[in-house]
Amino acid sequence: MGQLEGKVAVVTGGTMGIGAAIAEVFVEEGARVVIAGRNAEQGAALAQRLGASVRYRRTDVAQRDQVQALIDFALAEFGGLDAMVNNAAITGAFHNRFLDDDMADFDEVVRVNLAGVMYGSQIAARYMAGQGGGAIVNLSSIAAEVPGFALLAYRAAKAGVENFTRSLAIDLGEYGVRVNAIQPGHIPTRNSDFGAHPGLTAAQSAELNAIVDTIYNADQPLKRRGDPRDVAYAAAFLASDRAAYITGQVIAVDGGVTAGSAFNQNKLLSDARRDYLAKLGLE
Ligand SMILES: NC(=O)c1ccc[n+]([C@@H]2O[C@H](COP(=O)([O-])OP(=O)(O)OC[C@H]3O[C@@H](n4cnc5c(N)ncnc54)[C@H](O)[C@@H]3O)[C@@H](O)[C@H]2O)c1
Repeated sequence: MGQLEGKVAVVTGGTMGIGAAIAEVFVEEGARVVIAGRNAEQGAALAQRLGASVRYRRTDVAQRDQVQALIDFALAEFGGLDAMVNNAAITGAFHNRFLDDDMADFDEVVRVNLAGVMYGSQIAARYMAGQGGGAIVNLSSIAAEVPGFALLAYRAAKAGVENFTRSLAIDLGEYGVRVNAIQPGHIPTRNSDFGAHPGLTAAQSAELNAIVDTIYNADQPLKRRGDPRDVAYAAAFLASDRAAYITGQVIAVDGGVTAGSAFNQNKLLSDARRDYLAKLGLE
């Protein structure tokens, strides 16, 4: 028996990438799933591929009334709602230095990544509180925790998602509604595949991917890129009754990146000392 047998889940941004993997794993684990997203063609194709226990509902998570209609749809189609996965997000075009950013899509990043999570959580939780429980899983990012280069609005919105997750867990505990978040690390998907570019030939793309791999391998405890299903397994666990005593937590699925860089300062210092002493014939 699957760990989500008999459960009904909604996955936003479920038409591709990590969201599609979450929908796929949830179905494998026995759930009925409504995948929500803006791309009707992709959504319908995925729903068809995943079979009779899946529906697609066109939804823009930044529009509160559309999120309400999504939850109403799930309740009408499957008669309940046990898990709400707020996965949809955009990175925004904040790829330059903040001083040069024109902030053109700042509002959209915040509306989709933060307000969208809040809408989905509140509307789902109102139903779940009435039925005596449920699980909300929010997709954050290691970018919420680790300050870094570029994507400042994305980082800020995801940091908001994490505090919201912890605070909402406190708020909803008395109703049996659990709220947790996942921080994916580097998971190649359409928006985050460093090796992809429309102007590259297959050979050039492979060459760039090889360069990218050397960086992953140097700086990450687990020496490989992540897979969307790595994140989906964590989401399935958090949505399941096996996580019945876990709420208000943020779990990184990142190959160990946030555990600390493999090439941190202490390692460089101790390697330099060892090499220096070895050169002198000392231990
Ligand atoms: N891929 C990574 O490396 C990575 C790393 C850290 C965090 N994340 C997070 O994981 C989640 C999934 O990321 P992904 O890489 O699969 O992204 P993706 O871009 O491949 O997929 C995002 C999905 O969200 C949908 N979406 C975007 N705006 C929407 C809106 N307004 N309404 C409804 N749907 C909308 C897109 O259509 C798409 O289906 C996101 O929350 C992302 O921030 C991803």
